[in-house]
Amino acid sequence: MSGTSVSVLFVCLGNICRSPLAEGIFAALARERGLDGQFHADSAGTAGYHSGEPPDSRSTAVAAAQGIRLTGFARQVTPRDLERFDIVVAMDRSNRRSLERLRRRLRSGRGTVADIVMMRDYEPGARDPDVPDPYYGGPGGFERVYRILERACNGLLDELAGGDRD
Ligand code: 4NP
Repeated sequence: MSGTSVSVLFVCLGNICRSPLAEGIFAALARERGLDGQFHADSAGTAGYHSGEPPDSRSTAVAAAQGIRLTGFARQVTPRDLERFDIVVAMDRSNRRSLERLRRRLRSGRGTVADIVMMRDYEPGARDPDVPDPYYGGPGGFERVYRILERACNGLLDELAGGDRD
């Protein structure tokens, strides 16, 4: 994005459950490590169904229980995001496919394009490639997603704070 910070965009389907939670956890962990100035985190959804809405109250509740306040309003990811952000982190394989389709709409040869990566690739010992979608389930699903995202965001920070991304 701008300056010397690394910009990270977390992406799920609706941008109300998983990706705002990932954004909040990532920012809190960066702050705990004294690295908040080095990163810029945001989130978006591949679909626009919930654009303009605040995060789902169940995500807000699991975050608040850990002292994390979720901010922002849902928005749909745009092709421009793939040029503005350094790294785009997909929550599941379906989100990754949508992002790859969006990337194909960019004109080639114009500047840099974000790396598209999978959130759970950064979770040590992950047994499934996808962060499960908790939207239609109960509150237990949100607690499980919180624990997955905490491990994966710590892994992502280890990787990014480790320096060399090339
Ligand atoms: P998210 O969860 O992608 O983690 O924000 C969902 C939110 C809404 C819907 C599906 C998933 N929906 O179908 O409306």
